[in-house]
Amino acid sequence: MLTCRICEGPLREICDFGRHPLSGGFLRPDEIEREFFFRLAIGICGECSMVQLIEEVPRQLMFRNDYPYLSSGSTVMRKHFQQTAEYFLRTELTGPDPFIVELGCNDGVMLRTVAEAGVRHLGVEPSRGVADIARSNGVRVSTDFFQESSAKSFYAENGPADVVYAANTVCHIPYMESIFRGLDALLAPGGVFIFEDPYLGDIVQRTSFDQIYDEHFYFFSATSVRAMARHFGFELVDVERLPVHGGEVRYTVARAGRRPISAAVTTLLAEEEAAGISDTATLTGFVERVHKISTDLVDLLEKLRAEGRTVVGYGATQKSATVTNFCGIGPDLVSFICDATPSKQGRLAPGSHIPVCPPERFADPYPDYALLFAWNHAEEIIAKEQKFREAGGRWIRYVPDVHII
Ligand code: SAH
Ligand code: TYD
Ligand code: ZN
Repeated sequence: MLTCRICEGPLREICDFGRHPLSGGFLRPDEIEREFFFRLAIGICGECSMVQLIEEVPRQLMFRNDYPYLSSGSTVMRKHFQQTAEYFLRTELTGPDPFIVELGCNDGVMLRTVAEAGVRHLGVEPSRGVADIARSNGVRVSTDFFQESSAKSFYAENGPADVVYAANTVCHIPYMESIFRGLDALLAPGGVFIFEDPYLGDIVQRTSFDQIYDEHFYFFSATSVRAMARHFGFELVDVERLPVHGGEVRYTVARAGRRPISAAVTTLLAEEEAAGISDTATLTGFVERVHKISTDLVDLLEKLRAEGRTVVGYGATQKSATVTNFCGIGPDLVSFICDATPSKQGRLAPGSHIPVCPPERFADPYPDYALLFAWNHAEEIIAKEQKFREAGGRWIRYVPDVHII
């Protein structure tokens, strides 16, 4: 029997997406032979409702020295994290000598504002390349994985943390028991654990199935996060919906009994109950819509190819690995993908082996159609690439359904 990674309850498979590569595994041509694959499938726990991957990819394969994702790549996200830092400085970090720890600080996009304010902080970032960029931005970083053992040494060295924060990182970590033991060691008695991740409610509602890939191990809801916090002796005390990355929720977790539970928690739990977020019928409907998107997208790309139209991808996102590999889209349907991240350029996208090129290639000459893989950054990208529209180009989107704009 499959069991839940949080509570060991029975795990029921919801969808099998088939064989998938590492979503961050951008390849040199000589690496194709050795490409790593695993079975991408999700299930839901019958006890705690946590939606999770069924197969776990070893963490050292994903979070490596050359981890390709750079958090500062989007203007919108830079602003989001600056505002987040300013919010912490105004609220939780006003004591005599406050201390904040961030898990998965990446290139220091959030902590640099904290560092500039002269507040004690520590970034925990196992991917050495991005950790070094954070250091060059004036951020103090430990290149460890956060877990019970490292958290204990952070406590020994720094004392208790007022805030432990993580964006788009907690959902990447299967070993949650060790995380909560670490939090218990590191957090001040009245401290808070604040984390934000893609929201299951938005994924289901928008059919954004491309949020499902190797690194995203958990798909949180208020219902499942409340159960998880309780399971480890903590309490979910606040939630806030965020518009970034296609819809996220910021969860605040504290030691049981230390903070009042906000009305927002009760409201979101009731909304999830009314929407049947953990019901078989809801999840079956989601899977049916995923299959329809896949068929519609491939039909459209094949039709455009038959008409002699040119199609390129925009944004070599990790999400796009799920789309190309699930739908079976290769360089015959999408000739290349433009992306501003230097370490992805000149490489082949994982599994699909579609070449990744710098954004300058986009206009040289403009294609007839651009498949917007970075749909979560649509506003920013469409504004930046206005000349493409003016030249008669069209964007293809596949969330919440396949359409041309
Ligand atoms: N917070 C950034 C980066 C998210 S990417 C943002 O929102 O843009 C996820 C990051 O988590 C990666 O940089 C990865 O190296 C890091 N990570 C993975 N496992 C971790 C762990 N156990 N502890 C701390 N960081 C971890
Ligand atoms: P993102 O959607 O943030 O995350 P993930 O890889 O986890 O799915 O990735 C956005 C990608 O798009 C990233 O590789 C950078 C690229 N990008 C551009 O090339 N140009 C842009 O203007 C923006 C905003 C992103
Ligand atoms: Zn469970």
